[in-house]
Amino acid sequence: MPDLPRPILVAPSILAADFSKLPEEMRRVEAAGADWIHCDIMDGHFVDNISFGPAMVGMVRRLTKLPLDVHLMIERPDHYLPRFIEAGADSITVHVETEAQHDVGSTLRQIREANCHVGLTLNPATDFECLEPYLAQIDLLLVMTVHPGFGGQRFRDEQMEKIQRACNWRRTNHAKFDIEVDGGINAQTAALAVQQGANVLVAGTSIFRAADYAQAIASLRGPAAASPVAR
Ligand code: DX5
Ligand code: ZN
Repeated sequence: MPDLPRPILVAPSILAADFSKLPEEMRRVEAAGADWIHCDIMDGHFVDNISFGPAMVGMVRRLTKLPLDVHLMIERPDHYLPRFIEAGADSITVHVETEAQHDVGSTLRQIREANCHVGLTLNPATDFECLEPYLAQIDLLLVMTVHPGFGGQRFRDEQMEKIQRACNWRRTNHAKFDIEVDGGINAQTAALAVQQGANVLVAGTSIFRAADYAQAIASLRGPAAASPVAR
């Protein structure tokens, strides 16, 4: 049986926003039709970059009513979870790699107990099999389409196979998790990912570097949504 069609959700990554004008950026992106706000948390250890922490997530929480989709690219996410929950995260996604140094199953349970959406992700170099023990526990599977750490990188289309495998697993096991893609997403790559079965699109550069945020967000949802008639 084919999967039921799901609405396409767009989650702008504030990593690419102008932090000096954050209230305005949040207003603009919300008015432009964003569904979630994606917050990229980097610790300089799990990835080679440092972004921002729970205080900033709390600030974003006060600037928008949209769900906050928090992507933890950090070591010991279990240790820091309570701070992001307290800051107002609606979904929290953690990495499956051993370098993240946590008990993945137990971290996912902690997220669930906090009534947040439970997300799991993997780097492009990590095998899909590593996810399988946890897929029954999650609400959101994030397929990284760049090596995490920086915005503005090229989309890796060889990762599309993981989306297909996730769709097959979901169908076979009657699971319901959403499939999100993150990294190098623009109108062209979004179309590829959606075609494979992704339904949540994270995008930093292609939204925040666009002159017209509404046009950029609509173009990610597909040509029909991007046409002036449909807007
Ligand atoms: C990469 C982050 C992404 C990044 C996406 O480590 O997880 O969310 O901000 O940025 P773009 O859309 O510029 O690739
Ligand atoms: Zn991200």
